[in-house]
Amino acid sequence: MTKHIAVMGSGNGSNFEAIVNYFRDKDVKITCISDNLNAYILERAKKSQVEYKYLPFEENAAYFGANNFDLIVLAGYMRILPDEVLELGKFVNIHPSLLPSFKGKDAIQRAFLAGVKVSGVTIHWVTNELDGGKIIAQYPVLIGNSTHFDEFENEIHNLEHALYPIVIDKLLKDEVFDFGDLIGGCKGDCKG
Ligand code: GAR
Repeated sequence: MTKHIAVMGSGNGSNFEAIVNYFRDKDVKITCISDNLNAYILERAKKSQVEYKYLPFEENAAYFGANNFDLIVLAGYMRILPDEVLELGKFVNIHPSLLPSFKGKDAIQRAFLAGVKVSGVTIHWVTNELDGGKIIAQYPVLIGNSTHFDEFENEIHNLEHALYPIVIDKLLKDEVFDFGDLIGGCKGDCKG
């Protein structure tokens, strides 16, 4: 049976596009949702011919009360969702650091400036706490002494784009997975 996911973002939408590309030939329907009428994620949805909707933050409870999704995927959604919304679905989020370190905005930059030698990407269940919630998957990125910020930032984003669709796929199939499944899953693919 076709699964239906919502992808919610407030800005650029590069993770949304990676998810659309991954599921293009699979039995998964995607609805793009943004709380920002001018967000580029909505342009990406139009270009990819994916159903999209501008949904003001205040209307989330009514919308998710009336529409069922197998999974609601936050990808750069920049607001904290209250419990009354979270109880209406299964919400996951991606964050560009190894949580619980560097919660909040500009995590890539803050980790780099702090001089950490290992950072990475985290996918977690969403709670009403900023970048809180139980961790579903993590993957590391090593930062060498000669690594430039731009290189590091690109590596984090490429990793996000490779990992998020794989993890969403596994969650939709109710598959148990471990670190090794993710490494196998993005072999030769992690840079793209
Ligand atoms: C991504 O790097 C995502 O991890 C981050 O916002 C960016 C959205 O990019 N999310 C957070 O920082 C959540 N606290 P995108 O719009 O190009 O997918």
